[in-house]
Formats: sequence, C-alpha cells, structure tokens
Amino acid sequence: RHLPTEAAAPAGTLDALRAEAAICTRCPLHANATQTVFGEGPPDAQVMFVGEQPGDQEDIAGRPFVGPAGRLLDQVIAEAGIDRSKLYITNAVKHFKYEPRGKRRIHQKPNMGEVKHCRWWLNLEMQLVKPKLIVAMGATALAALTDAKQRLQDIRGQAMAMEGGRTLFVTVHPSYLLRIPDERLKAEEFARFRDDMLNIQQLMT
Ligand code: URA
Repeated sequence: RHLPTEAAAPAGTLDALRAEAAICTRCPLHANATQTVFGEGPPDAQVMFVGEQPGDQEDIAGRPFVGPAGRLLDQVIAEAGIDRSKLYITNAVKHFKYEPRGKRRIHQKPNMGEVKHCRWWLNLEMQLVKPKLIVAMGATALAALTDAKQRLQDIRGQAMAMEGGRTLFVTVHPSYLLRIPDERLKAEEFARFRDDMLNIQQLMT
C-alpha cells in the first residue's frame, strides 16, 4: 500500500488528493474502517466546516455528515439560511474509529496522535480549497486546526483571525447536542448552536 510521507508533493487537485487519501495507511485506523471519508463540497468553497471523524453511517456511505449529526446540522444550517451545497464539509480524522459491541460499532474519540497524523490531509484540503472562513465543530476539530491550547468554551461563537488571512469560528459538535440528557440544557444549547449558525451566515455574506 502507498504511504505518503511528509516530503511527498501535495496533489494538485482535490480529486487527486481524495484518491491518495482513499489508500491512506498513515495511522492504524484504516485497518478497521470501511473506507476513507474525505471532505465533500465545491473545490473553491469559501467556507469549510470541520467535524471530528466519520460515524457509523458515514463510514458505510463514504460521505461526511450523513448520519444523525449530519441531519441535525443540515436542519440548523438550513434554518439559518446556509446552503449546504456551498460548503466544503470535512473531518479532522478521516477514518471511523470504533469499538465493536455485539452487532453495533461504538464511536471512539480519536486521540491526539491520530488527529496529528490525519492533519496531513486536512492541511492539504485547506491549501487547495482556500476557504476564507473555517468552522471548527467541537474540540477535536479545534485541536486539529490550531496548536493553541484554548478551551472551546472560551472561544466559542467568535470570529477569530487565523494565519493566511482566514477566519476561524468555533462552535460545538452537533453530536454533543444529541447527547444532552437534560431537556432544559438541551434547549439552551440548541439555541446557542442556532445563534452560531446565524453568525456564520452573516460572516458568509
Ligand atoms: N460526526 C463527525 O464529526 N463527522 C461526521 O462526518 C459525522 C459525524
């Protein structure tokens, strides 16, 4: 199998990069996943959304954010007036990490080593797509996008300058909203997420 090294020349197009990523063995996660789930969207999108890693349904479909978290994201961005087809949507880690439990595959959070290995692809996606605005959804995306050890809650909901003239906007991951057991807290957190998407919509215009 082909193993790109740090010295390898970046592929010239997103399609070429996707083809390279499809055979990636840079970390052990490829061994148990069905396939690489690469980013999706216009190759010159102005806005890039970054999640954590594909889930069970994404692993099978080979597309990011098509499962429960993706449906929630679709609904909230649509309400905020954001057209998903204009976004480039990707993940910090491109293989599904899970633990088998009976017939189910239980999502496991990628560790920092896996995030660092996979940042190779995320950085190249950013270099090729050149988005003006990057939206980090959740702490894993934030860790992949910045070396600063800032806590998500401290910088959430603000547009921040990134190197290369880009803007970074940090919000929570939609899966987090789906897991909140307390109804009141859930409603509050949904409202904040909706506000974040409205702010992102404003930054896009
Ligand atoms: N969660 C993510 O972070 N990414 C996906 O693609 C799906 C669920």
